[in-house]
Amino acid sequence: MLEAIYPGSFDPVTYGHLDIIDRALHLFDRLIVAVAERGPKESFFNVEERVAMLKEVLADRPKIVVSHFDGLLADYAIRERIRFVIRGLRAVSDFDFELQMALTNSKLAPGLDTVFLMTKETHLYLSSSTVKEIAKLGGDVSEFVPPLVGERLKEGFKKEI
Ligand code: PNS
Repeated sequence: MLEAIYPGSFDPVTYGHLDIIDRALHLFDRLIVAVAERGPKESFFNVEERVAMLKEVLADRPKIVVSHFDGLLADYAIRERIRFVIRGLRAVSDFDFELQMALTNSKLAPGLDTVFLMTKETHLYLSSSTVKEIAKLGGDVSEFVPPLVGERLKEGFKKEI
């Protein structure tokens, strides 16, 4: 059985992530969507909230497990005995960081390969950060995130005020 990990901050999950997940499912028999407890930036939603949103949004998709990990992705992949990592690539600006991460991960976990999927052009400029910014300023995020995520963003920013 061919399995892969799709790791990320998912703070929160967007339609860009869902597109990558759906396309990865054409390549792999099983996909672990793995939420990093501590990503590169401080997160708006805590790990339980991020996992819960992903579980709800992905409930109708078979072959997916939503999980979370702390520490190094390479160690998590070794523990799970998984050889492939999925990452989405948007613009050239993603490339440096992604290359560095892919090479570092394969150094830390020899044999761990990263499979890059190019984002759909409609999602080229979509990121969780811009979605949060729009929601924070009261804008409409319905084109970018599933309805339940839009609601959680609204609730989250209401609490902040
Ligand atoms: O969605 P993101 O924020 O682009 O995801 C980045 C993430 C969480 C996949 C990356 O930061 C990560 O793997 N963090 C876990 C810690 C780790 O392994 N760091 C070394 C990577 S070179």
